[in-house]
Amino acid sequence: MSAQPSTTVEPLFQARGIVKRFGHVTALSGADFDLYPGEVLAVIGDNGAGKSTLIKVLSGALHPDEGDIRLDGEVVTFKTPLDARRAGIETVYQDLAVAPALDIASNLFLGRELRRGGPLGQVLRMLDKREMRREATRALAELNIDVQSVRSAVQDLSGGQRQGVAVARAAAWGRRVVIMDEPTAALGVKETAQVVELIKRVRERGLPVILISHDMPHVFELADRIHIMRLGKRAAVVTPQSHTMQEAVAIMTGATAA
Ligand SMILES: Nc1ncnc2c1ncn2[C@@H]1O[C@H](COP(=O)(O)OP(=O)(O)O)[C@@H](O)[C@H]1O
Ligand SMILES: [Mg+2]
Repeated sequence: MSAQPSTTVEPLFQARGIVKRFGHVTALSGADFDLYPGEVLAVIGDNGAGKSTLIKVLSGALHPDEGDIRLDGEVVTFKTPLDARRAGIETVYQDLAVAPALDIASNLFLGRELRRGGPLGQVLRMLDKREMRREATRALAELNIDVQSVRSAVQDLSGGQRQGVAVARAAAWGRRVVIMDEPTAALGVKETAQVVELIKRVRERGLPVILISHDMPHVFELADRIHIMRLGKRAAVVTPQSHTMQEAVAIMTGATAA
């Protein structure tokens, strides 16, 4: 496989020979994967190529039938997405996982609510809403996400703002890796540009990003390397320098061999 950053840098996050079947459908048929520190790795492929399934396997949402996953060279088994999150891997799924009825601050702290100090928090499990609102405001400001108030319900936000909340949550909690599956698929032009800027800011903070996207211009603008899925496997890894968009699409569709 070409397009390795350097022979001395080890992959941060790696998978080998991943197989995942759904009944008679083999979604992944021996997929490999490598993510290096600090990079934006785009994952591209036709519909049904196995991109979302790969991401779900890497983030603990699905269990592979075969193959192994390594984080810092150690084999890891994520039984649930929470296991992956505890290991520092945050995912923005394609089927958006925000709680629409809750406000922005509550969404950012979903599953990690801050409790008040003393018996109010320890015994009565009372939430420290003020501190959560303060932290949420700070997290959104740091990523330049514009919302009127972190008390707004997520269901009252535009698609781009909702996506911003999901991305901000991942960026705020992801200590090792941020994964985004088609983060701009449902967005308009302006909102898409905001998410592209967000991804750049996450990378500037030194966090590697796995970006699944159909949008070739954005892939070529953002990615350090491009992992091309075809028929449930990694067909090739290219870079925006080594290949044109047309060449990458040709590998993706099988028009040319990798
Ligand atoms: N939960 C599921 N049950 C059955 N088949 C599935 C399931 N999830 C994905 N598949 C199938 O696995 C293949 C890969 O799907 P997916 O990973 O969603 O591809 P992509 O994200 O690249 O479009 C497709 O044929 C899809 O229909
Ligand atoms: Mg998908």
